[in-house]
Amino acid sequence: MKKILVTRRLLRSCEDKAEMSFNAILNSNDELYSQKKIIELSNGCDGILSSLTDKLDSDTINKLPETIKIISNFAVGFGNIDLDAAKKRDIIVTNTPDVLTDATAEIGVLLILGACRRASEGIESARQGGWKWSADYLIGRQLTGTKLGILGMGRIGQKIAKVAKSLGMIIHYHNRSQLSDEKEDGAIYHKNLKDFLKECQVLSICCPASKETIDMINKETIEYLPKGAIVTNVARGDIVDDNALIDALNRRKVYAVGLDVYKNEPNLNPGYLNHKSAFILPHLGSATKETRTAMANLAIDNIDEFFKTGNCVNKVN
Ligand code: DGY
Repeated sequence: MKKILVTRRLLRSCEDKAEMSFNAILNSNDELYSQKKIIELSNGCDGILSSLTDKLDSDTINKLPETIKIISNFAVGFGNIDLDAAKKRDIIVTNTPDVLTDATAEIGVLLILGACRRASEGIESARQGGWKWSADYLIGRQLTGTKLGILGMGRIGQKIAKVAKSLGMIIHYHNRSQLSDEKEDGAIYHKNLKDFLKECQVLSICCPASKETIDMINKETIEYLPKGAIVTNVARGDIVDDNALIDALNRRKVYAVGLDVYKNEPNLNPGYLNHKSAFILPHLGSATKETRTAMANLAIDNIDEFFKTGNCVNKVN
């Protein structure tokens, strides 16, 4: 039986599955392992079932035992793993696409709604009580007829577009390549980032973090947005230069932000914490029972497939 290290706790039924399929070392206390501890614990293992909180950089990967042949990430994103370093070591890296599209898109839509309709201020007022209703009290932005720009029109972006369209939003998108007519479903493609951002009354960041996208939303590109744009991010914090975005919020270039992901999670840039126009969530994208179960089962199946066939359909390196 192959031996694997599971770096974080999974839902109980998924841990049972891992134990039935492999000799699995589980993390019953859900301790956040250091890189050193991951290296130590993976001694004698054939694979690692990692999570987005594990920073598997090249130094860590180079110190993993020779026996490690697969890192199966319990996430669709894999910015926490140095893919090139893994490839050089002949370790395959896999992810969990598709199964979290709906749950993550739901949070993407929630961020748009929360930021546009001033949910942070509304929740605060409701909790304090005694608010005075008036015709202009907490007036927000209506989605109907508003242009939504999707940065990264993959599965999650397409699902957000579909829901937003049903709410009357007009969809624009920027992607490495244009989608088929069927997938585009009436959305307007912009090859050029600047042309795209100029249209974004609301921006929804849905692209993976990569060398090309890190800090893509920065001091310069924020200026392409229309004045009073709303910026939301359901993808990865690394795509945004936080200081530039907070500065834009403070000078009302950006009207509001809706964020589920951050650089240096869980230590957010303090500029977001008490900002009344920041609707912020603690990386809840895939946090439903159905989705977390499906993700963990897929991460386990990816390892199984690899050891049975020598390959895996969800390989990303
Ligand atoms: C992912 O899988 O990349 C999500 O961000 C997890 O919530």
